[in-house]
Amino acid sequence: MGFSTDCIHAGQEPEPVTGAVTFPIFQTSTYVQPRLGEHKGWEYARTKNPTRSVLEANLAALERGKHGHCFASGMSAIDVVFRTLAKGDHVVAGENMYGGSYRLFSKVLEKFGLEFSYVDTSKVDAVRAAIRPATKIVFLETPTNPMMTLTDIAACAEVAHAGGALVVVDNTFCSPYLQRPLELGADVVVHSTTKFLNGHSDSVGGAVICNSDQLAEKIGFLQNAVGAILSPFDSWLVLRGVKTLAVRMKRHEENGVAMANYLAHHPKAKKVYYPGLPDHPQHALAKRQMDGFGAMISFELGSYQNAKKFLDRVRLCSLGESLGGVETLISHPETMTHASVPIADRQRLGITSGLVRISVGIEDIEDLIADVENAFEGV
Ligand SMILES: Cc1ncc(COP(=O)(O)O)c(C=O)c1O
Repeated sequence: MGFSTDCIHAGQEPEPVTGAVTFPIFQTSTYVQPRLGEHKGWEYARTKNPTRSVLEANLAALERGKHGHCFASGMSAIDVVFRTLAKGDHVVAGENMYGGSYRLFSKVLEKFGLEFSYVDTSKVDAVRAAIRPATKIVFLETPTNPMMTLTDIAACAEVAHAGGALVVVDNTFCSPYLQRPLELGADVVVHSTTKFLNGHSDSVGGAVICNSDQLAEKIGFLQNAVGAILSPFDSWLVLRGVKTLAVRMKRHEENGVAMANYLAHHPKAKKVYYPGLPDHPQHALAKRQMDGFGAMISFELGSYQNAKKFLDRVRLCSLGESLGGVETLISHPETMTHASVPIADRQRLGITSGLVRISVGIEDIEDLIADVENAFEGV
C-alpha cells in the first residue's frame, strides 16, 4: 500500500471482539491463562501488549522493515541497540548528533567497555578510516541535530558492511515520510517517537526497526529483559499520531521550506542550516536520499545576547526542548539539547552561543513568519 494508507492501516486489523475501528488500549499487566502450560500468546505485558504490538507492526511497515520494537523513550530504544554489543566492541558514531545520544555513549556505555570513535560521517572516507576489526556498529544521524549535516547512508552502509559492521540510523528528524534508511542499505532504524511520529508533544517514546530475524530476536529479548517498554496508553497515542503523519509532514515540509527561505534572506540570520537551501553542502545528497527537506532549521544570530533577545521575544513559537510537534518549537542547542557536549566539541561543530534551532510546526506560515520577524526586531 501507499505510505498514507499504511500510516492509517498497516498492522491494524479491526479489533476482533467488538470490531472497534480504533485499536483499543489494552490497559492490563497480565493475561489469564486457561490451563497451566497454555496461553493465548500473551503472558505478561512487559513481554507483549496488543496495543504496543500493533504500533510495532505499524512502524515496521512505514520504515519498510520486518520487525519493530517500541520503548519508553528514544534514548531507551538507542540504549537497547547497544546492549546487543559486548565489552571490547567498537562503534563509529557521528561527531555531531543529539546531545543525549552522545551522553549515553560517553557517560554510560563507555563504562561498560564499549569504545566509540566520533568522526564526520558526511565524509565516507572518515568512516572507512575509523572502522577497525572490532567495529560492530556505525551509528548515523542524518540530518544531524542541530547542524543539519547529512550523511550518505548507502555509501556508509557499503563501507560498514565491508568491515563487518551494522549501520544504525537515527531517523527521528525525518520520519519514514522523508527518509527510509533500510531501503538505502541500513540495518537498523531508531526513532524518538516523541517527535514527528507522535507529532503532538504529548508522549515520550522510542522505536527500533530492523529486517534481520536474528537481530529482532535479540532486541525482543532485551526489550523484555531490560523492561524499558512503551506503555499501552503511549502506544495508542503514537498510533493515533501516526495516522496523520503523511498530511502533517507535507505541511511541515511546506512550512519548513518557506521559513528557511525567509531566514536565508534575513540580514540578521548570519548563517542558515537547512538541507533544502541550494548552498547547503549536501543539498544534492538531500535531493537524492530524502523525499523532502523537513522542518528542522538552525540559524546563527552571532552571540548569546542576540539569541536571548530573539528567544525572549517569540510568542507563537514555543521556547522549549523537543521538536516534531504540530506546534512550532524553538530552542537554544548550546544551553538546552546539547549542554552535555564538551564545549570544545560544540565550538568546533558550530553549536555556538548564537545558534538557534527551530522545529517548524503546521500553523499558518504567515503567522509564524510574523512572530519570527517580530523577534528579529529585538536583536
Ligand atoms: C535525533 C534524536 N534522537 C533521539 C532523541 C531522544 O529521544 P527521547 O527524548 O524520546 O528519549 C532525540 C531527542 O531530542 C533526538 O533529537
